[in-house]
Parts: sequence; structure tokens; C-alpha cells
Amino acid sequence: VALDGEPVDPALAAAWGLVRSAQSEHPGRFVLADTDGTEASEAALAAAVATGEPQLVLRDGNAFALRVGRLALPSEDPAPVWDAEGTVLITGGTGGLGGLLARHLVAEHGVRHLVLASRRGDAVELVAELTAHGADVQVVSCDVSDRDAVAALLDGIPAEHPLMAVIHAAGVLDDGVVDSLTPERLATVFGPKVDGAVHLDELTRDLDLSAFIVFSSSSAVLGGAGQGNYAAANAFLDALAQRRRGEGRPGLSLGWGAWAQGSGMTGTLGEADMQRMARMGMPAMAPEQGLALFDAAVSTGAPVVLPVLLDMAVLRSHAEVPHLLRGL
Ligand SMILES: NC(=O)c1ccc[n+]([C@@H]2O[C@H](COP(=O)([O-])OP(=O)(O)OC[C@H]3O[C@@H](n4cnc5c(N)ncnc54)[C@H](OP(=O)(O)O)[C@@H]3O)[C@@H](O)[C@H]2O)c1
Repeated sequence: VALDGEPVDPALAAAWGLVRSAQSEHPGRFVLADTDGTEASEAALAAAVATGEPQLVLRDGNAFALRVGRLALPSEDPAPVWDAEGTVLITGGTGGLGGLLARHLVAEHGVRHLVLASRRGDAVELVAELTAHGADVQVVSCDVSDRDAVAALLDGIPAEHPLMAVIHAAGVLDDGVVDSLTPERLATVFGPKVDGAVHLDELTRDLDLSAFIVFSSSSAVLGGAGQGNYAAANAFLDALAQRRRGEGRPGLSLGWGAWAQGSGMTGTLGEADMQRMARMGMPAMAPEQGLALFDAAVSTGAPVVLPVLLDMAVLRSHAEVPHLLRGL
């Protein structure tokens, strides 16, 4: 965790994501503290922990508690991100959200050149639909955890329609409580998310991109019981976007809440799961709500945005509101 202007370390951020899940699984057992190591901060640590705050930052003896804040939409139109000439690469572009995004960019933002990458590289219906809207779509089989494969993918983008935006939505789940995780189970989830993002980050370094957007999850910040590996990988993505912005490059991490799109990662969730999320005050979002939040998040210019639906009345009715949400 970094305060404004401090450098960000994505590897450390991943550790925070993992421990946030451990906090969700074992409430009251773990406190996360990022300290500058000064004597004053060491001296302030015990009192800060005694406040009951689960996530702390200590600098020069001052303790800060982490809070999620509200983002205001810009009052003026932001600089345009999309155009009809450049190519948009969507990793995981054949998946549930990748397909929705591809349709949205073509129908609403005039994008005409798309590369959709996934390991299987098949999306016949989606391609037909996008082509009917006037888009030129390449579906490419590429495992983004393989650096050479990502390099070849980028090399294949035609010079007359240079890459203008990366949307990294590739990902897989391997859910299990933190006690059950192994190096292999971390690697399964880190491969597409973390390795894929690092390859894209490094291999597009010299290109003039207008957007570099990674699909993260609200579990990275809010903690996801049974999703420690996934929360860790997504926390890495959040920090990567922050680091890119610190370097003056485009970067946006979207920490999505659950989508109710009937396919993709939430495709196996049933009505009971949807009701459980609604009772927790975080209902799943309809595709049109998610796509509107995508546009809003892009327009804010912030590096890390949590596009989630929060039912404040339900949240307030709970005996205890999560610390991170108490500033809303
Ligand atoms: N759905 C939600 O409610 C939700 C909520 C929060 C965050 N997210 C995030 O949004 C993203 C998309 O989720 P989704 O629901 O659309 O999932 P999905 O339908 O399962 O799509 C995932 C996509 O990633 C591809 N993929 C997986 N491993 C890959 C690899 N190594 N290389 C290249 N492509 C790979 C998959 O295709 P192949 O299997 O053919 O490779 C698929 O196209 C994920 O990053 C997820 O963490 C989703």
C-alpha cells in the first residue's frame, strides 16, 4: 500500500491481497500494516492495532486507516480514448466479460479493429456479430502466461492499425480457503492474470497506447473468502496500474464486483448466490450497468476503480459495516 506519490510494489500488493482473504476467512485474527520502519512508527504500531482497524499505513509515527472513497465523474468530457483506426487487444476477449466489452466498444465507441486473445481462440458467433457491425476482428489463440506467445501476438498487429489499447481480461479461478492453497494453486491463477499482465506491460512499453486496462476484482481490496490466490493476483494488477501511472503511462485497474451475465466466472452462480450477495449489500450488476460503469471508470482518470453496486441501506442495516466501507 502506498500513500500518494510513493512508489508501488505489485509483488507486495499481492501479499496484501492474500492476507485480506485470510482476514475475511478468520475475522479479527490478522492486521495488515505497512510501516516506513521509523522508530516513531514502530512506537505507534501497538496503539494503531488496538483501534481494531484491520488495514493500516504508518508513516513518521502517524497511523492511517484504509478506506474506499467515492469517485466523482469529471465535469468536462475527458480526452477520447477510442478511435476507429487503432487496434484494441482484449485478452480473454472470447470470455463472458471480454465478449460484452468487445460488443460495447464496437457498438458504442466506434472501435473497428479488434484482436481477441484466449488459449482456445474460438468465438464464431461473437466474430459474426462484430463483423456484422462493421468491425474487423482477429481471434488469436494465445496463452498470455507465455511471453513469446504474447510477443508474437503483438507482432501480428498490422502497422496500419497500430495497437491503441490493451484490455487484459484473461483469468481463471481455482478457489479454496487460504489453508488449502499450494504454490501450484497460486500459479494456476497467477499465470493468466499476473504473468500475462507483466508480459503485456513490458512488451508494449515502447508503444503509444491510449489505454491499458486490467480486469481485477473487488476481492483484491475487500477480501474474498475462499479466493486468496485470486485476490492476490488481482491486488498485483491494481498495483501494476498504479505503478504505470506513476511512470506517466496509461493504466487503469477495474476491481469489478460480480456481474450477473449468466456466463463467465459468475456463470455457475444460481439464484441463491445472487440473493446472498444482495443480502450482503453487494448485488450482482446487470451487463448494461457494468458497461456504463466501465465508461464511467475510464472517464475518471483514476488508476484503480472499484465498479461495484453497493446497497447502502442493506449495508447500514448490518451489525458491523466493513471498516473499508465506513467512509462512504
Ligand atoms: N464475471 C465477473 O463477475 C467478474 C467479477 C470480477 C472480476 N472479473 C474479472 O474479469 C475477467 C473476465 O471474467 P469473465 O467472467 O469474463 O471470465 P471468463 O468468461 O471465464 O473469461 C476468461 C477468459 O480468459 C481466457 N483465458 C484464461 N486463461 C488464459 C490464458 N492463460 N491466456 C489467454 N486467455 C486466457 C479464457 O479463454 P480460454 O479458456 O480459451 O483461454 C476466457 O476467454 C477476469 O479477469 C475476472 O477475474 C470478472
